[in-house]
Amino acid sequence: MAEKIVVQQDEWKKEANRFKYATELEAGNILFFPETPFDFPPEEKIFLLQQRQASSKGRKNIAYKPQLDKITNHDSKDPETAQKMLDVLRNYSQRATHFLSEILSPYARGWKHDYASFRPFQEQGRKLRLRARNDLLHVDAFPTRPLHGARILRFFTNINPTEGRRWITSRPFGELAASFGGERGVPFPSSVGYSLKERLERKMKEFVAKTGVKIPLRSPYDVFMLKMHHFLKENEDFQKNCPKDHWEFPPNSCWAVFTDLVSHAALSGQYALEQTFIVPQNVLLFPEKSPVSILERLSGKNMVNIEFLSKMLASRG
Ligand SMILES: [Fe+2]
Repeated sequence: MAEKIVVQQDEWKKEANRFKYATELEAGNILFFPETPFDFPPEEKIFLLQQRQASSKGRKNIAYKPQLDKITNHDSKDPETAQKMLDVLRNYSQRATHFLSEILSPYARGWKHDYASFRPFQEQGRKLRLRARNDLLHVDAFPTRPLHGARILRFFTNINPTEGRRWITSRPFGELAASFGGERGVPFPSSVGYSLKERLERKMKEFVAKTGVKIPLRSPYDVFMLKMHHFLKENEDFQKNCPKDHWEFPPNSCWAVFTDLVSHAALSGQYALEQTFIVPQNVLLFPEKSPVSILERLSGKNMVNIEFLSKMLASRG
């Protein structure tokens, strides 16, 4: 079960702590910062707290995509408000990234700076379809953006001035995969590489992708992680009877966690910001502790097909 690692102001500047935080994260622990560890101007917080997402489109979190410098799902018709939202989320994304590059320096040379999000909704009682619910325990997986074994690292900030954000966590990925992987619930993707059916599907997708249509090319690892995500949320017995730790992240606090390793759920809280990083295997301190390695040991199968991975890397230039 995840432990809380309290990070005190400025202790990350000590050389002795250079690998400490990445080590704790890879062990499945949560880094907790009692106060936001970087500058966050009050007027930016006030602006975010005043936002009201009204339309049905507005039932989604607002995302900031740093590579495009764009926001999505923001339903304001007013260009000035939209520009301000873009500025505020860009600022948050840049400050969080700058800070984490310092305390997680082993990762910074290889990670991908992924989306940031603003989560303006009250999580308690939020009406979402079952697989999208945040209040059910799960490990994170991306349905449309395959990771091929790279990790999902998330950094959160609770900007609610009065209400804590409440989470529960349960057993880590390795224990869940040992309990539910294979014939016990979530099948291991077939064979070394792919089955005939999967290879044919893949050929079709590659063909379509050449026409310029964006289509996710998943590795066996991605297939398994997505199925595990769904299996856990749909498993009433697990949700009810698994061991749970309760967490409360107070106003202005921050926390960081590998959400593909630590099973988690957000029970309540409103107004949080989040920045995601995709951390590749080659910058991890203990790649053998990552979900893809755990899965390969458990299944005895190759979860990331080298041929497809090298093609993907080549296409990214
Ligand atoms: Fe999650």
